[in-house]
Formats: sequence, structure tokens, C-alpha cells
Amino acid sequence: MTQDELKDAVAAAAIDEIRPHLGRDSVIGVGTGSTANRFIDRLASLRDDLRGAVASSEASAERLRGHGIECFELNEVGTVPVYVDGADEVNAHLHMIKGGGAALTREKIVAACAERFICIADGSKKVATLGDFPLPVEVIPMARSYVARELVKLGADPVYRQGVITDNGNQILDCYEFMIEDPVAMEARIDAIVGVVTNGLFAARGADLLLLGGEQGVERLT
Ligand code: 5RP
Repeated sequence: MTQDELKDAVAAAAIDEIRPHLGRDSVIGVGTGSTANRFIDRLASLRDDLRGAVASSEASAERLRGHGIECFELNEVGTVPVYVDGADEVNAHLHMIKGGGAALTREKIVAACAERFICIADGSKKVATLGDFPLPVEVIPMARSYVARELVKLGADPVYRQGVITDNGNQILDCYEFMIEDPVAMEARIDAIVGVVTNGLFAARGADLLLLGGEQGVERLT
């Protein structure tokens, strides 16, 4: 199977997973990226079975609206029963690196408000140790150089993602050469650097369920 077919398979599995729990008052959290897009496209068939969605990016909100799914502000909704999103890497503890699409801050906020986080990923995303994928860090623009110097002290090789402005008007540093042995501790350590808005480690609040696509089908990992 191709990577795209695996993404389709996990998107379909996520629909099967959430369908029994939806009601006409349900507003669900929806993530960002190519895997999340496949989930959004399939969610269109359920649009009459739910009230709407909170999106983790402007791009996802636009795609949801394109399918006739109403988008709500998170502040209007409070908690969401479930958040479905992809990942750049995920380990056996369901800690993740996210933010390849620069949507990490809104993703982390929606995830924080979710009763359940379902991660959907093709098998290439499963790793023993997080860090081969460069860890994104969203920074306030005036703090970029300072934060980069602090990240070097932590052992990373941060690179400014040129030409990218996040939905929040900020910039991204991608941390290369940075294998992460203790994701929970490192998430807190990076967040403590002044000028950091969010980092792409989703460990303190990891996923509750991973739907992982492989040649043998979709594995359900908790
Ligand atoms: C966007 C993300 C995405 O979930 C992550 O980059 C995975 O994307 P894709 O499904 O396209 O591989 O965190 O900020």
C-alpha cells in the first residue's frame, strides 16, 4: 500500500471510531495536515450527525466549511469530546512530535480541551525515540534569535523556517539533530524559554488512541 492509501485507511478507521459517539450537538476537534485532510473529507458524510467542528488551523476550517461542516471558535464550545489529528512522529507511549504544518499551537490548545485524542498516522510515523523529525518550536518573532541560542544550549541545532508565519503571526524554529529521550521533561523545558509560544512535543498530553496504518491493516494502540 502507498503512504496515501495508509492515510486513507486510518482516516476511515477514525470515522468508524467516532461515529457511535456522535450526537447532533457534538462539536469535535479536527487537526491539520494531509492525514487530517483525509479525515475531514470523510467527515463530510457525517455532517448531518454532528453540530460542527473546531479546527486547529485556518486551512482545516476552510476545508471543513467547504464540506458544509460548521466551524466554531473553541471559546464558544469549551471542551470537545474528541480531537482527531495526525502526527510527524509518535512513540510507544503515544507521545508525539507535531507541527510539521506549523499548526502546533492551535493543535495543542484543541488537544488540551479534548476528552479524547485520536492520533491517525501511517506506519512510517511510529518511532522508538522521537527526534529524527526536526522538532518545531513556535516563537514570538522578536525572540527568535534568543530562543535559538537557548535551544543550542539544550543540544539542538535550530533552523529558522524561512517564509512561514503561523496562524498566530509567529515564526517557527525547527530543531535538528535532537533526539529526545524524555519527551515530558523536554516539552516543559522548552516551554520555559522566554519567547517560546509552544513546542511540538505532545507528551504531557499525548494521544489516547493511535490508529496506525500498515500492510496488515489499521492497528489500534492505546
Ligand atoms: C501539522 C501537524 C500534522 O499533524 C503533522 O505535520 C502530520 O502531517 P501529515 O498528516 O501531513 O503527515 O502537526 O502542524
